[in-house]
Amino acid sequence: MTTNSNPPYHIETLAIHAGQQPDPSTGAVMTPIYQTSTYAQSAVGEHKGYEYSRTGNPTRTALEACLAALEGGRYGLAFASGMAAIDTILRLVAAGEHVLAGNDVYGGTFRLLDKVLKAYGIEYSFVDMTDLNAVKAGLQPNTRLVWLETPTNPRLKIFDIAAIAKIAHANNARTLMGVDNTFATPYLQRPLELGADLVAHSTTKYLGGHSDVVGGAVLLNDTETYARLKFLQNAIGAVPGPMDCFLVLRGVKTLPVRMDRHAENALTIAQFLSDHPAVKEVIYPGLSDHPQYELAQRQMRNGGGMISFLLHGGLETARKVLARTHLFALAESLGGIESLIQLPSAMTHASTAGSPLEVAPDLIRISVGLENKEDLIDDLRQALKE
Ligand SMILES: Cc1ncc(COP(=O)(O)O)c(C=O)c1O
Repeated sequence: MTTNSNPPYHIETLAIHAGQQPDPSTGAVMTPIYQTSTYAQSAVGEHKGYEYSRTGNPTRTALEACLAALEGGRYGLAFASGMAAIDTILRLVAAGEHVLAGNDVYGGTFRLLDKVLKAYGIEYSFVDMTDLNAVKAGLQPNTRLVWLETPTNPRLKIFDIAAIAKIAHANNARTLMGVDNTFATPYLQRPLELGADLVAHSTTKYLGGHSDVVGGAVLLNDTETYARLKFLQNAIGAVPGPMDCFLVLRGVKTLPVRMDRHAENALTIAQFLSDHPAVKEVIYPGLSDHPQYELAQRQMRNGGGMISFLLHGGLETARKVLARTHLFALAESLGGIESLIQLPSAMTHASTAGSPLEVAPDLIRISVGLENKEDLIDDLRQALKE
């Protein structure tokens, strides 16, 4: 779906209106859930733009246009999950070509490269992209895609999107640069405007925002790459159903207000954790002692809603704390209205065990929700008690 590449409205307005008009047949203000698999044609090949819902569905069209507008992209494609979105992007890489990825990514992305695509002849390597010389050195003549998350999952490193896009594009004309913008969302940073070619999302997270849907999206500007991805979306078929598209569309409407409150709560909690005697290290991009704090200030609107931390007591204490929280649910995922706590090494990033991306066994990750921040701090305080 295409949208205006130069959105005239601010992101708060786009989040509510982009891609959505009152329904032409009834005037319904909210985009209907077009729960249909197929569409009647008046004659062979004569239809109203829709033939079959794997190829296109009006609820999905609205979501694709809305997300494209939020990221400042011309085109949007929605998928059944974040992994389906990333997998479809990786189909742009042919056997014998190379992916250079940041050395901290979601465990599922690592698993896809390492346990699935390697067998199809796709090469990959990982570098610490906080070091721009390492990015340059990691590029190969056959590098088709430079792929990164920022903030990264789960170490919350910040990579310089504009600088890395420039380095990737200097490699050769075929090298694309893509950003998984799941942690930041377009409210905090817009990678396409910083030079990235592709943005991916797990819409399961902040865009959906309510932990009630699994979905993904790809946003971009280049017409040729869009045509290929659109073809792949239909050919592979990992598309979201209309109900899921509706849920993400509905969630997105409150994205800006939610992200401000996520960040406000997270900053207060990061400061609380930093001052707590049981805590060894806090990683939060909005804290001035974060190694890429200056870059985060420049690149992101605020520090976001994710915090990682380590305890002096190591793994044993970490496991106890995880079992003791009441408001923070011990669960995978992130970005919902409710607070979550988890142990990446044993949960979301278990697939990285034994690899160079292996996560410290005792690293705790929290997704700070929208509850009252004093209640959240009280919950962590009682969980951290000796
Ligand atoms: C940064 C990031 N990207 C992609 C994904 C995969 O998304 P999904 O679970 O919707 O497939 C996740 C899931 O946790 C994630 O955290």
